[in-house]
Amino acid sequence: MAMTDIRVLGIETSCDETAVAIVNEKKDILGHVVYTQATEHLKHGGVVPEIGARAHVEKIDSVVKQCLKDANLSLKEIDAVAATCGPGLIGGVMVGSVYAKALAAGQNKPFIAVNHLEGHVLTPRLTDNLDFPYLCLLVSGGHTQFLHVQSLTEITLLGQTRDDAIGEAYDKFAKMIGLPYPGGPAIEKLATECTDTKNALENYPLPRPLMQTEGCDFSFSGLKTAVRNYIEQDKNTEIARNKVQDLAFSFQEAIVETVFDRTSNALSMLKDDNLAAQCFAIVGGVSANKRLREALSTFLQSQDVTFHAAPLSLCTDNGAMIAWAGLERYKANLIDDISFRTRPRWPVGTRV
Ligand code: KG4
Ligand code: ZN
Repeated sequence: MAMTDIRVLGIETSCDETAVAIVNEKKDILGHVVYTQATEHLKHGGVVPEIGARAHVEKIDSVVKQCLKDANLSLKEIDAVAATCGPGLIGGVMVGSVYAKALAAGQNKPFIAVNHLEGHVLTPRLTDNLDFPYLCLLVSGGHTQFLHVQSLTEITLLGQTRDDAIGEAYDKFAKMIGLPYPGGPAIEKLATECTDTKNALENYPLPRPLMQTEGCDFSFSGLKTAVRNYIEQDKNTEIARNKVQDLAFSFQEAIVETVFDRTSNALSMLKDDNLAAQCFAIVGGVSANKRLREALSTFLQSQDVTFHAAPLSLCTDNGAMIAWAGLERYKANLIDDISFRTRPRWPVGTRV
């Protein structure tokens, strides 16, 4: 049977987004609905797993129906159903995956279990027509890692954070100054409001952990502590309230410089192994950061490596990345049984 215009519906519920999308083989996103639970978690200063899981239960059915309606498709016209089966907050993952399994079973359609991280990692193949292999920097709320992506099933970890993820550092900084989750966009905005960048770097020097060391691991807990110390120290001084923009600027520059240094090492590691990467992709929520995207794009150009990043709406969690990863697996005949178990922890590139 010639498989033309395959359509896959993908469900993502591993954190605070109830997201559903339908994509086809031609890389069209036919429907794309994201319900973000922001208000439910607001007064708690972070995502509360139990509240999140309940909100997913309440929303999942209407989000799926809305997505089908937007795409002007019925369930019968979907070839397979994919869902995030981990890693993530397990209550939410259970809601989305059980719903997807029921949809698939009810329609007698294949079910595909998707690793959330692989959803992020494969997104540039949907948005930028990226071919294998490529070097990927996955930067999200829970992960910061370099991956060598050779094929759908061969994804090798080159290095990762030894403590906090970059997104987590942004979120914690935001929390320290009373801003809600997710902190990334708010801290980025503060950094752009800094008026005297030279002064900011001088007044708020921050560490660049592991910089100029071997390998491509990261560490951000020292940076977070240094930020906390400045906030504590400035608490009682009047000027401090206007200086948070300076601190945010210095913080973001520390991250950008660290990422440069580590990226350069990751590229050398591949070169040393004769696996030179011509293409680089940044994926995950933090890849929505404009400063990081622009700086990396310029840096990689100078290294003759092409730079890829998804449109902003497909950087943070969404259903299209799950639908696309599902579609890639479906085409490779990698179908799962509906007994596939959800996994709170699930390293990228592994299946057992
Ligand atoms: O991929 P994602 O939506 O969820 C996870 O899989 O974790 O990533 C969420 C993370 C949060 O930590 C959030 O603060 C961060 O991505 N983030 C950003 C920006 N937008 C989202 N970090 C820095 N700058 C941004 N513009
Ligand atoms: Zn994510």
